[in-house]
Amino acid sequence: MKKFFKAGGYVAGAILLVALAALTYFNMTYPRVNPAPDIKVQVTPARLARGEYLVNHVVGCADCHSERDWTKYAGPLVPGTEGKGGEKFDRQTAGVPGIVYAKNITPAGMTDRDLGAMYAYLRTLKPIHHKVGKFTPEK
Ligand code: HEC
Repeated sequence: MKKFFKAGGYVAGAILLVALAALTYFNMTYPRVNPAPDIKVQVTPARLARGEYLVNHVVGCADCHSERDWTKYAGPLVPGTEGKGGEKFDRQTAGVPGIVYAKNITPAGMTDRDLGAMYAYLRTLKPIHHKVGKFTPEK
C-alpha cells in the first residue's frame, strides 16, 4: 500500500511538472506578435472622417469605451464622453466572471504605441482573398 502511494506521488509530481512546463512555455511564447513598427500617419480630413466612422460605427470602440445612457432605448452614447471609458462589465451585463471597466482610450489614457500594436497585429494576419457580399437593403 505504501509503495502504491509512493508511485502515485511520483505520477502526480510528474503531471504537475509537465503542466507547469506547458504553462511556462505558452506564457513565454504567446501571443506571437511582431514588435510594433514605428508608424507615422498623416492626418487628413478624409482620414479623420474614416477613423471616426470606423471607431464609432464599425468596430464599435466607442460603444464600450464611452458612457451610455441606459435610461434610453439601446443606451445611446452620452455626448462628450466618447472614449473616456468606465463602462462596467460584469456577469449580469456581459457574462464575465468578475468586474472589468472599459479603459480610457482618449489621448489622456491610450498611447500611440497601443494603436501601433493593433495595426502591427492586424498586418500579421494571413492575407485571405475572399470576396464578401454587398449590403442588400430589405425590401
Ligand atoms: C465589447 C466592448 C468593447 C469594445 C467593442 C471595445 N473594447 Fe476596448 N476594452 C473593453 C473592456 C471591458 C476593457 C477592459 C479590459 C480589462 O480591464 O481587462 C477594454 C480595454 C481596452 C484597452 C486597454 C488594454 C490594456 O491592456 O490596458 C484598450 C487600449 C482598448 N480597450 C481599446 C479599444 C479599441 C481601440 C476598440 C475598438 C477597435 C475597443 N477597445 C473596443 C471593452 C471593449
